[in-house]
Amino acid sequence: MGLFEKKSIAALQADAESGALRRALGPVNLTTLGVGAIIGAGIFVLTGQAAAQYAGPAIVLSFVLAGIACAFAGLCYAELASMIPVAGSAYTYAYATMGEFIAWIIGWDLILEYSLGAATVAVGWSGYVTSFLADYGLHLPPHLAAAPGTAVAGGTALFNLPAALIVLAVSALLILGIQESARANATIVIIKVAVILLFIGFGASFVRAENLTPFIPQNAGEYGSFGFSGIVRAAGVIFFAYIGFDAVSTAAQEAKNPQRDMPIGILASLAVCTILYIVVSLVLTGIVPFGRLNVADPIAVGIDATGLSWLKPLVKLGAIAGLSSVILVMLLAQPRIFFAMSRDGLLPAWFGKVHPRFKTPHLTTAVTGILVAIAAGLFPIGVLGELVSIGTLLAFVIVCLGVLVLRKTSPELERPFRTPGMPWVPLLGAVACFYLMAGLPWVTWERLLIWLALGFVIYFVYGRVGAARARLRGALATTA
Ligand code: ALA
Repeated sequence: MGLFEKKSIAALQADAESGALRRALGPVNLTTLGVGAIIGAGIFVLTGQAAAQYAGPAIVLSFVLAGIACAFAGLCYAELASMIPVAGSAYTYAYATMGEFIAWIIGWDLILEYSLGAATVAVGWSGYVTSFLADYGLHLPPHLAAAPGTAVAGGTALFNLPAALIVLAVSALLILGIQESARANATIVIIKVAVILLFIGFGASFVRAENLTPFIPQNAGEYGSFGFSGIVRAAGVIFFAYIGFDAVSTAAQEAKNPQRDMPIGILASLAVCTILYIVVSLVLTGIVPFGRLNVADPIAVGIDATGLSWLKPLVKLGAIAGLSSVILVMLLAQPRIFFAMSRDGLLPAWFGKVHPRFKTPHLTTAVTGILVAIAAGLFPIGVLGELVSIGTLLAFVIVCLGVLVLRKTSPELERPFRTPGMPWVPLLGAVACFYLMAGLPWVTWERLLIWLALGFVIYFVYGRVGAARARLRGALATTA
């Protein structure tokens, strides 16, 4: 029974009304929260690397492909987020639609998205900060600015200290309060969008047709190395760039009017970013021959090629600020998922403690921050990024299927936002996300499977019992 135990929508709505978290966010806050989470290491770092290794200028098509998958998934997210406006995102939706076990899998899987995602972006942040400081003659000790084992001048690196420090700093900010955090985020979003527009505006006149020809380089003989398969593999890699719009949904319990504002926040932020990505990747590969983009700061390489040297510090600073806001939103989302899981008994109760004055889940924010800082210090960006992509794609597949299931099992429920084109949009969303997963290398699949296996063990040893106890407590409280 327990395995397939579902949480009723009424119980979820009661959780939403319990008022433990402060309702402070409106539609503009939510859209900026989304854009703050979306534009980051994907466009500032991984675009160049994926163009150089997999797709060439056709990276533009990879962005279109990944954008389409996200749009389908985004429409499904919006229906569930408007209907079940509680903290916890895809985890909560899975609990309502597919039961406890799938909910656990997805909650566990989302740790890959949010915690490892924050670590990935922190590594990108460290790369831009190191390169920015070096432009001014400040050279950080190279063995303290990369993952252990990375070859650096004078030997191999030991730890990525800047990456770990930014994670700790952002966690401290988040403990102080969501209102303050959202305000800091809005300022940063303006800076990073401005920098991207400057890059597009000034870069466009330096685009040369020969850099974009052939637009789809010929396949180099193996799957994923240019040609059509290269476009698909690059789409799986740069899918990372779109992650974040779903983070909006994790703040549902802190939204003033979730029924109306959740879909607006999710879809508006996704639309803005898709357009920016397509144009940036076209301009970047149009300015620089794609083979030169496999670096830690490809946008800066693009600026170099234009000769507009005054623009370079601005772009690097914008990237640094932009990456900070992504870390912020991801570290905002993770503890809120833990919060929901602990309320359901799948995690120990202290994960759900809220600070009496700050009204933030302070303990879990602190523990998450410390663990993410360690991960950011220890792993390279490529390994982290692909694992985040595959984990998130899996979550999206489950969310799309969840919309279908819930329409069948609970057709009577009020849906302030309805996914259009039923059943095709959720079906195409699930298929498109799975297709992108399938394009990723086998080693990334292996890591995902190991992670899930570990999750199964924890569920059967702890989560199952904890959830049963929580249900019992709930039932006793109702009868008392
Ligand atoms: N979409 C976010 C980024 O690109 C995760 O950094």
